[in-house]
Amino acid sequence: MIVRERFGTDDSGKEAELFTITNTNGTQLKVTTLGATIVSFVFRDKEGTMRDVVLGYDEAASYLEQKGYYFGATVGRNANRISGARVTIGGVEYALEANSGANNLHSGSNGVSHRVWDTERVDEKAGSVAMKLLSKDLEQGFPGNMTIKVTFTLTGDDAVRIDYEAVSDKDTIANFTNHSYFNLAGHDSGYIGEQKLKIYANAFTPVAPTGSVPTGEICPVEGTPLDFREFKEIGREINADYDQLVYTKGYDHNFVLDGGGRFGLMAEAICEATGIHLYAYTDRPGVQLYAGNFIETHKGKGGALYGERHGFCLEAQCFPDAVNIPLFETPLLKAGEAYSSATMYRLSLD
Ligand code: GLA
Repeated sequence: MIVRERFGTDDSGKEAELFTITNTNGTQLKVTTLGATIVSFVFRDKEGTMRDVVLGYDEAASYLEQKGYYFGATVGRNANRISGARVTIGGVEYALEANSGANNLHSGSNGVSHRVWDTERVDEKAGSVAMKLLSKDLEQGFPGNMTIKVTFTLTGDDAVRIDYEAVSDKDTIANFTNHSYFNLAGHDSGYIGEQKLKIYANAFTPVAPTGSVPTGEICPVEGTPLDFREFKEIGREINADYDQLVYTKGYDHNFVLDGGGRFGLMAEAICEATGIHLYAYTDRPGVQLYAGNFIETHKGKGGALYGERHGFCLEAQCFPDAVNIPLFETPLLKAGEAYSSATMYRLSLD
């Protein structure tokens, strides 16, 4: 079942819609056309209590007030950081917005995350809603008029599947992600440190001491607090005196997925208190683990108080700054070529 309602407007006054998709298990997904954003994801825990496992807000205005968190949003055209806020495509240098020190983060303030997308298709039978946005030539600094489509599907086995499609009329960058903050004890339950995480990655891309931009190296996770090859509490080593964690105030790193771009499991997380188990899949080469280090205390859905480390993100994407590091797989999209990618977050009690 899909229920459609109004959600408020974006900065230009355009009306956003909110869709509530419910499957036959009673699992419920809310998505809005404001930023093609996941607003809530409600699942029955082991005691039978319905738990909303992602952070978010009740109305558009709060998303616009708190743009820096990207709660549940689609991020693009380029997720994560670009050093020096410039990119060279076909020998031409394009200037981007320096919105994170000297660097570009999540494509700047004119990103796709806070604009109202058009509803393209509502498919009751499939449990899906498709949203579309035209990102104009140079609007974010990137070349090419790009049509972006994101389809959210709530599956019969309690997964939200996110399908991205894009096409541009000039060579450009395409590197989208979803920025949901998970808290498997419930969005309103505080610190996520006791929840256990496993990441299917043997290596990560270390960052420079400032700016959180990769150095270009690929380092094994073995022997570091970034080793999540076996389930480990997120909080167990988060405060370790390890330079990489000191630079970013906790986890905020890109992992080199073992799957190397083939669709498969990228990570799992478990909350023992609720029994909720998250299985995360992608076809992207990397995943940014961000443990909510910079969330300031403020009100979220239903008046819940959110704060530092109350949610963790598993942002599937190309490696950060891949546009400037030849060793990293390029997010370049050729003119007229079809970009397509998928990420899926499935909830289960097993
Ligand atoms: C990403 C970044 C973080 C932070 C969040 C948004 O996860 O890596 O450093 O900017 O987005 O708050």
